[in-house]
Amino acid sequence: MAQFGQYTAPVYRRQRIVRARPSLKHLAHLKRLLPYAFTYRSWIILGITGILASRLCEAQVPMFMRSAIDSLALGDPDILLPVMGILGVVLVRSVISIFSSRLLRRVAIATSYDIRKRYFSHVQTMGSAFFNQFGTGDVMARSSGDIAMVRSVVAYGWVQVLTFAFSILVGLCYMLFLSPKLTLLVLIPTPLVAYLGITMSRRLFPLVREQRQAMDDVTSFTSENLNGIRTVQAMAQEKQEIERFEDISTRYASLIYRTAKYRAKMNLVMPFVTISSTLIILGYGGQQVLTGQIGVGTFVAFFAYMHMVTGPIGSLGGWLSSFTSAAAATQRLFEVLDYQPEIQSNPVAHAPTKMIGEIAFKHFTYRYPGAGEDVVSDISLSIAAGEVVAFLGRIGCGKSTVLKSLVRFNDPQPGTLFIDNVDIRGYPLEQLRSQIALIPQDPFLFSLSIRDNLTYDNPERDQPPIDTAAQLAELVEAIEEFPDGMGTIVGERGITLSGGQKQRATLARGLIRDAAVLAMDDCFSSVDTRTEERILRRLKSIRKGRTTLLISHRVSTARHADRIFVMDRGRIVESGNHAELMAHNGYYANLEAVQSNQDQDRKRKAALLRDLDIEVEVVSG
Ligand SMILES: Nc1ncnc2c1ncn2[C@@H]1O[C@H](COP(=O)(O)OP(=O)(O)OP(=O)(O)O)[C@@H](O)[C@H]1O
Ligand SMILES: [Mg+2]
Repeated sequence: MAQFGQYTAPVYRRQRIVRARPSLKHLAHLKRLLPYAFTYRSWIILGITGILASRLCEAQVPMFMRSAIDSLALGDPDILLPVMGILGVVLVRSVISIFSSRLLRRVAIATSYDIRKRYFSHVQTMGSAFFNQFGTGDVMARSSGDIAMVRSVVAYGWVQVLTFAFSILVGLCYMLFLSPKLTLLVLIPTPLVAYLGITMSRRLFPLVREQRQAMDDVTSFTSENLNGIRTVQAMAQEKQEIERFEDISTRYASLIYRTAKYRAKMNLVMPFVTISSTLIILGYGGQQVLTGQIGVGTFVAFFAYMHMVTGPIGSLGGWLSSFTSAAAATQRLFEVLDYQPEIQSNPVAHAPTKMIGEIAFKHFTYRYPGAGEDVVSDISLSIAAGEVVAFLGRIGCGKSTVLKSLVRFNDPQPGTLFIDNVDIRGYPLEQLRSQIALIPQDPFLFSLSIRDNLTYDNPERDQPPIDTAAQLAELVEAIEEFPDGMGTIVGERGITLSGGQKQRATLARGLIRDAAVLAMDDCFSSVDTRTEERILRRLKSIRKGRTTLLISHRVSTARHADRIFVMDRGRIVESGNHAELMAHNGYYANLEAVQSNQDQDRKRKAALLRDLDIEVEVVSG
């Protein structure tokens, strides 16, 4: 068991390793990066040319050394020319190499920038099925860790590979020129090195993938914990959370440890193999020098060239391992990039650009992907433009599902949901979502000022509509109490709004859009009935002629609607206006009775408390 400070690496139960045939197939994932790098082909060509030139310069050094040593061996002390030559080529090589490396690093930064941008835009179009599969933490881990890994390989990996390849090529040419026989002998261990490198790299690939996956788990867990930190603390679950984190984190650490060990092994094995080439030269080459077949200068130069060749081969393990990591990262990135958004925008030509707001559900049925049964079944109803319609019903009966379908958060079956007589699947998605303002059930505000939150869809808005929306949502009083008014930052980086304030800010953000269709999903649950009534009355007069849909659990909200649909287990069970439904004496009428009784009870209780207060005052006075 290995010990690193607090962390104790558990003994790893080894999986039986299937003897892998050497293959570099997994590196093929890297090919997917080529189109991105190809955008910068002129920089790449320039960079590669630079590297080739710098290698050629470097290859001149042993030749100058050879002539200097041979001069000295012949008793000629004038070696100024070779020395100047060495200094010259080293200088030129350094300058070229700095510039070309910098150029290729820029390509890497630009490439990873492009991938990150594409990744982010792609994720923006994803629906719930995608997030069910990947999870936010996973998506985040891929966008940071995996892109960084890809960048490091594009930046340094390619430079290394090219440098190595050119070194080997140039070195071999010079070696063959100096002594073809010795060259062939030196190359004997090379196939073994290649075999070992490739086999080890192939085994490393699944390890790296697993390690990245474990990293996702750590990120997901941390992000979920931080999002729910108040709940964790409220339920006194900190200790359990720390224990759960320890499990996940230990697994990640063990995988890092295991991968690092494997990498170290790769880096260790390679130089051992290449050292055999050195021994061959010393033995066989040395003898040739002694017998006078080659000069000392040639012998030394040959040594230098051999290092040019075996050096890169020795570090084959190192760069194969970083390429393997990058291949795993690339595969993970493209898993996301290849994911087709489940909701596609395929607009038809006759979709009107401006909606009137006539809505028709025709035998509308919906089942969530992977679910066992329909959550909404066979709903048929028409809503005229300008109507105010309420949906009411028990928890989980499918109200939000119906409303979400209007903006295609849930994609309806073709031919079941129409707006202005056009199937909603025929509208461009952006147009559909910009002309139907859906105010979701869970209020969400960005960590921005209240003003920026209200004008989120269009920051260019003038002050008057912002004020109107704030007034309509009865938010003005609350805003006036905030330290910076409309400029007050809310959310994580600012003040925390109460549930009701958050709900009304979300409401104002929807109202400001002045959309053809307004759909409010239970927007008044944290607002008291009197405020709610005022808001609805004003809304009704402001939205005259435009369609408004609302969901509520309260009869006091629903009664303002022109028509009320009562839902139960995904079906419409009652419909009509308030009076009609009361006369019908069904679910709605019962609910009204219960809720008004509760109201009366509440009123009685309030009055009682008021009386008590007075009593207390009288007694104490
Ligand atoms: N993304 C989803 N995947 C699978 N099932 C879902 C999903 N969203 C909702 N459901 C299920 O669909 C049913 C209807 O949900 P919906 O949110 O439409 O209910 P609701 O009437 O709005 O309830 P509430 O009054 O609590 O808001 C529920 O049983 C719920 O569990
Ligand atoms: Mg709901």
